[in-house]
Amino acid sequence: MAKLLSFAGSAWAIVSAILTSVSAASLPQPRADVSACKLKANQSVYLSAGFGYDLNCAPSVGTLSAFMIFVDFSDQSATESSPDILRDFFLPAAADWYSTSSYGALDLSVTADTSRFYRMPATAVSYNWERGLTAEVHERYIQDALAAYNATIPPVDVLYIVPTANASAITYSPTFVGDVRTRDGTYVARKSVTFGYDGYRTWGFLVLNHETGHTMCLPDYYPYNGSATGLFIGGWDLMGLISGPSPDYFAWDKWRLGWLVDSQVDCVAEPGQTSHVLSPVEVVGGKKAVVVKHNDTEALVIEVRSSTGLDTKSCAAGVLLYTVSTIIETGEGPVNVLNVTPGSGGCAGDELNDATLTLNGINSYTIADWGVKVTVVATNGEDFKLTIDVL
Ligand SMILES: *[C@@H]1O[C@H](CO)[C@@H](O)[C@H](O)[C@H]1NC(C)=O
Ligand SMILES: *[C@@H]1O[C@H](CO)[C@@H](O)[C@H](O)[C@H]1NC(C)=O
Ligand SMILES: *[C@@H]1O[C@H](CO)[C@@H](O)[C@H](O)[C@H]1NC(C)=O
Ligand SMILES: *[C@@H]1O[C@H](CO)[C@@H](O)[C@H](O)[C@H]1NC(C)=O
Ligand SMILES: *[C@@H]1O[C@H](CO)[C@@H](O)[C@H](O)[C@H]1NC(C)=O
Ligand SMILES: [Zn+2]
Repeated sequence: MAKLLSFAGSAWAIVSAILTSVSAASLPQPRADVSACKLKANQSVYLSAGFGYDLNCAPSVGTLSAFMIFVDFSDQSATESSPDILRDFFLPAAADWYSTSSYGALDLSVTADTSRFYRMPATAVSYNWERGLTAEVHERYIQDALAAYNATIPPVDVLYIVPTANASAITYSPTFVGDVRTRDGTYVARKSVTFGYDGYRTWGFLVLNHETGHTMCLPDYYPYNGSATGLFIGGWDLMGLISGPSPDYFAWDKWRLGWLVDSQVDCVAEPGQTSHVLSPVEVVGGKKAVVVKHNDTEALVIEVRSSTGLDTKSCAAGVLLYTVSTIIETGEGPVNVLNVTPGSGGCAGDELNDATLTLNGINSYTIADWGVKVTVVATNGEDFKLTIDVL
């Protein structure tokens, strides 16, 4: 209880009605060992959002090494004076983004050969990006680029292939998740990201962070079935909407990636009431999430998002609630942000972007099916004190 005493007489703003009816000292604290909340990934579920998913994932702590080459085409040739301008489009901004999001745990180390554009053996249009790129043609594109490059690349985690900004036929930026080898079998990388026009036109450097997220085996959080991009999570994570107002990664994924240590997560796996203090995901240090285990494949995650750090465009700082399922694959909604403010109209273009609990707004939410209630009881600056009731 020592931690709770620190609230007395401090800068904590409180809801007095709640404070008088809930004596902190009387709260039972059925806090589980944090390992109980590390839901295991299901290997049969593509990019399962659990712990331990194994697809020769690129490292997410320490150094992620990458090599970047630049290509152009006979039908869409480079007019840039040098590839330098394209390297500078991505770096160092993308590396800085990871440094910040990972609290310094991940160093994206990219060697870029900007000596020239290598001419691809086929036209840009011939790779059929616009009519639906197949895995086979994607691999051929990568091997064509390696053949055009025709020089030794020291084995790296990720090969980045960057086309001239004139290559409008290379419409988007997929990640190839299989081993990358030259046609004669020389191993080059675990994964390759082949950049496209969407980065230059729409997403900016963040397309590199999104795609590199896939190399670390993170799933897509937007729907593959054609519904609105924000359907499952609004703009609360880069793996959903790249241009969303709060693109920093969810605390759940930061924990999975090793950017948060176990002591920064509270695990609730038993009935009862618990009390927690969370500091914003965007701020270094402190407790970042409460995970309420529902069963072996589903959990509720509670975190605080502020409008600082990588989320300066956030339009609704507060307590964010989302469910995670380890048996729903990428693009099918493995993470769902709970809309605690239904019918609000949202902000920054999405209904879910204001789905946060706050002290003076909507301050409590119950997931009836799961028998879980989350209540904001106090704030101190950007930190939130919460109680969680599990039936
Ligand atoms: C893993 O996912 C597969 C495919 O959805 C499913 O059949 C299987 O029951 C799951 N295993 C566990 C342990 O949940
Ligand atoms: C690659 O370079 C070697 C010399 O290093 C050359 O003999 C070979 O023809 C080149 N291959 C291609 C496809 O350009
Ligand atoms: C290539 O891009 C430049 C601007 O970056 C533009 O001026 C030029 O017309 C483009 N050429 C082609 C063939 O698209
Ligand atoms: C896409 O899937 C979601 C979740 O299953 C569903 O709510 C939505 O209606 C689907 N959209 C389309 C266009 O089928
Ligand atoms: C876990 O919870 C979800 C959501 O309530 C449910 O659909 C699923 O069947 C549960 N799984 C098990 C193994 O009970
Ligand atoms: Zn993606």
